[in-house]
Parts: sequence; structure tokens; C-alpha cells
Amino acid sequence: MSGTQHPLYPLIKLCTVTATKLYYGLLLTYLKLAPPKLTLPINSSSTTTKAKDYHEYGFATLSAYDLALDWNCFLYGVSKKEMQEWFDQGLTEEHADIGPGSGYYPVHSKRLPALIASSTPSKPIAYHAFDTQETSLLYLTSRLSSRFPLTTSSSLPSTASGNGTPSNPSLALQTHLFDARQHARARSEFGGKMQSVNMHFLLHCIPPTEGGGPEDKFEAVLKTAWEMLKPGGSVYGTTILDPLAPSAPGRLNSSFPPTSLRLQPALALISWLQSVGVLCNQGDSLNALLCAAQPVGFEFEERGGRDVYLRGVVCFFRFRKPEERKDEA
Ligand SMILES: C[S@@+](CC[C@H](N)C(=O)[O-])C[C@H]1O[C@@H](n2cnc3c(N)ncnc32)[C@H](O)[C@@H]1O
Repeated sequence: MSGTQHPLYPLIKLCTVTATKLYYGLLLTYLKLAPPKLTLPINSSSTTTKAKDYHEYGFATLSAYDLALDWNCFLYGVSKKEMQEWFDQGLTEEHADIGPGSGYYPVHSKRLPALIASSTPSKPIAYHAFDTQETSLLYLTSRLSSRFPLTTSSSLPSTASGNGTPSNPSLALQTHLFDARQHARARSEFGGKMQSVNMHFLLHCIPPTEGGGPEDKFEAVLKTAWEMLKPGGSVYGTTILDPLAPSAPGRLNSSFPPTSLRLQPALALISWLQSVGVLCNQGDSLNALLCAAQPVGFEFEERGGRDVYLRGVVCFFRFRKPEERKDEA
């Protein structure tokens, strides 16, 4: 930490990291004793053709993820309820979830069952999940199939079969092993198919591109969303910013780094998770995110917190792809 360090920070860091390790350890022990009743349909090892520059979530971590989220959100100064509401607000009938992890938000969504109920058998809700980890996609499939009538298709070698029938309203889940930075692939395979793209807690997992800064990785991922979206659609999500990243004067986050005592545990947790490679958000600032969204073509209203705001150390964002103007068509 720099000169802005709170006098109690070293002690708070020690307590936060020790308590977090203890909490995670207890969670994993509990899950070993009482494993969740989920069946992974095939060998759950993660396979991807790309070099792994991200932290991998195994089955045990995914099982523990929901409970770990409570702890992490508390420390980050944000509520899971607010994250859920943000997820639900943007959800549409043609949705892409990039980096679904354990699938906490679609599984707990109030809007998704309502959308399914109002769909027709001939036009089910299209839910596309994209992740670099097969384990995550299988875990999500298993969880969603125990909650919703599901029809599945996938680019994975083998998938869970759904418990829905095409004659009833259902959720059409498609899972794809996919890196969020593959915008050329997004254009060729999913170009203009989505009304909404969600990326909850994804951007802080993605390391900077070689020789580039945070703007470059943000731009690469936002281009992917741009390619997937229909005109008028939105990409939205949340990400943990780096409290030590330089902030732009006058911008919403110009008060970063948070110096309040309340957020010192968040700074400690971020610093520790960066050091073990779980968080790759070194240098991630709100300014970098907004500076990446603009050249891609997205529109957003920064003022009034309508499309972009901070809660604790978490940034909530929503960027719209403009409607095509008639005179351009
Ligand atoms: C922290 S979890 C977030 C899970 C979920 N969205 C949530 O908020 O609960 C990050 C997820 O993003 C995935 N991920 C990480 N890097 C990725 C990348 N480059 N492309 C696609 N998914 C990625 C991870 O495998 C993991 O499933």
C-alpha cells in the first residue's frame, strides 16, 4: 500500500487473510462431509486448447463458491442481493452469460422463471453460457436442470440431458468452451444473436494482455460482447476494481483508493487474492473500463449512477449498443 495506507491496515490485513483462510477451509471441510447432490455428467476435468492464464475453479471450489461469495461480498462492501438484482434487470430472452462460474445468479434469479413462463415451446428462452472451464459449464448445466425445464446443447464433448420437453416452455441452454477475448469467434459464431450479455465478476479474473494495460483487456472483452449483441442490446456486469489504480480527476472513482476503515478488509482481501493469482485486476480502474467501452462504440450515462456506479470496491456497469440508424441501413 502507498502513503494512503490506513494506520490499522497491517493488522486488518493479517486478521482478514487469516479469517478468510479459516472460512474457506471450514467450507471445504463441510462440503467434504455433506457434498451437494449434483451430478457432473462427464469427467469433470477442465480442458481447453488455450494456454491457461487464469485461475481454475475445480468442482470443490464451485460447490463452495456461493457461500464464499457471502463472505467476499461482505468484505467488498456490496450485497449479493444487489448483484442479483443487477443480473435480473438486464436479463432478456436471448442472453449470454460470460464466465457463469457456479451459476449462482441464474439459479437464484426471480426474472428467469418469469421469462420461461411467458415463453412459448417454439421460442424458448435462449441462455448461452461461455466459459474457459468445462467444469463450470457442466456444473451450471447440472444446477439449472434441477431448477428449470431445460433443453441443452453444447460444444462440449458430452452434456447433461435436460428434464424439460420441447412441448413445454423451457430454457434452451447452450454451453460453449470459450475465451471472453475471442471477439473474432464471437462475430463468426454468435454475431448479433443476443439481446443481453452479462459478465458478473469476470473482468477482474482476466489478466492484462501482453504488453498492454487494463484498457486493452477490457476492450478485447467488450468487443466480444459488441459482436454478440443485437443493435439496442446491452452488456452489463460487475467487476472488482484495483483500489490502488490511479483514478481520473472528476470521474466517479476519483475518491479511490477507499480510505474508510470499513473498506480496509476489502483492500486486504484484494491484495491477498492478487498475490495468489485469483484476482488479476492490477491497475483496473473505472477510468480504464469507460475508456475501453467508448471506442468499441458503446453508449452509457455515467452521471447519476444510471449505467455505472461503485459500491464498496465493486463497479456496476451497463453499456448499450446503439440502435442502427435507418439512414445507415
Ligand atoms: C469469479 S467467477 C464469476 C462467476 C459468476 N459470474 C458469478 O459472478 O458468480 C469467474 C468465471 O469466469 C470464468 N473465466 C475466467 N476467465 C475467463 C475468460 N477469459 N473467458 C471466459 N470465462 C472466463 C471462470 O472460469 C469463472 O467461471
